[in-house]
Amino acid sequence: MIFYFTATGNGLDISNRLAQSLDDETRNMVGEMKTDCSYEIKEGERVGIVSPTYFYGLPLIVEEFIRKMKFSNTPYLYMVLSFGTTPGQAMIRAEKLFSECGYKLNGKLTVTMPENYILMFDPPTEAEAKRILSSAYQRVESFASAIKGSEDVDMSVPPTLFQKITGVIARPMYTHGRGTGRFYVDRTCTGCGRCVKVCPSKAIELIDRIPTWTKSKCLRCTACINRCPFKALQFGRSTRKRGRYVNPNVKFEE
Ligand SMILES: Cc1cc2nc3c(=O)[nH]c(=O)nc-3n(C[C@H](O)[C@H](O)[C@H](O)COP(=O)(O)O)c2cc1C
Ligand code: SF4
Ligand code: SF4
Repeated sequence: MIFYFTATGNGLDISNRLAQSLDDETRNMVGEMKTDCSYEIKEGERVGIVSPTYFYGLPLIVEEFIRKMKFSNTPYLYMVLSFGTTPGQAMIRAEKLFSECGYKLNGKLTVTMPENYILMFDPPTEAEAKRILSSAYQRVESFASAIKGSEDVDMSVPPTLFQKITGVIARPMYTHGRGTGRFYVDRTCTGCGRCVKVCPSKAIELIDRIPTWTKSKCLRCTACINRCPFKALQFGRSTRKRGRYVNPNVKFEE
């Protein structure tokens, strides 16, 4: 079983590749969170959690899922963290959380994927994204081969001292900075409703065909802004001239 959370498709892409190599199935965490997250598994069965890195840590929904999940037997548990520039201490935080919940993490992979945090950074060009994805696929493949033997495998990049220090402020920036007040749509919005459908926080509603943020906080995942087909969704002044990123090799459920 491979559980993934994704906003722009990188996690789905990784999960699909792992599932193919390991002859496994993928499950979207957003849907799983509507269940009691209890799973019947055989002793030592592989269970993967695939997540993006958010501010040197995990998205809140992934933390909630890890706290909620229950297994009938002890799994071979692995975590894959995708990131754009640096994962900081995200894997250390994840490992600590697993341990608090009574799990040992057997496999660890951090992997560079195209950056999707367009509220702050430019996304890669198409050519850059292609290059990043192709080396990521090799790394994911090596990891899949390594965990087939069910030995402990660590393919995570540890944080530098500088990242450890800056990580102290990075995390509160996420947990306290998830306000939706700066999102808006421009005149090119057609009212198609895709942003409403893709929002894992259910923070957007169409009111008179205009997307309206009805929750004051969200996951900050960027699915709405990156996956709007008309680039009509904006965040403050920073995104008007910026490109968008969606993984080119996946098909989303919606
Ligand atoms: C709110 C937010 C915070 C992020 N923080 C980091 C970070 O601390 N370090 C990093 O390298 N990438 C960061 N990223 C980039 C994503 O981790 C990366 O692009 C990831 O592959 C996106 O995965 P997805 O397409 O499955 O959603 C951040 C992205 C978002 C939306
Ligand atoms: S996805 Fe884009 S065009 Fe469609 S309703 Fe949302 S903002 Fe408007
Ligand atoms: S409002 Fe946009 S950024 Fe916030 S959780 Fe929903 S889709 Fe993600």
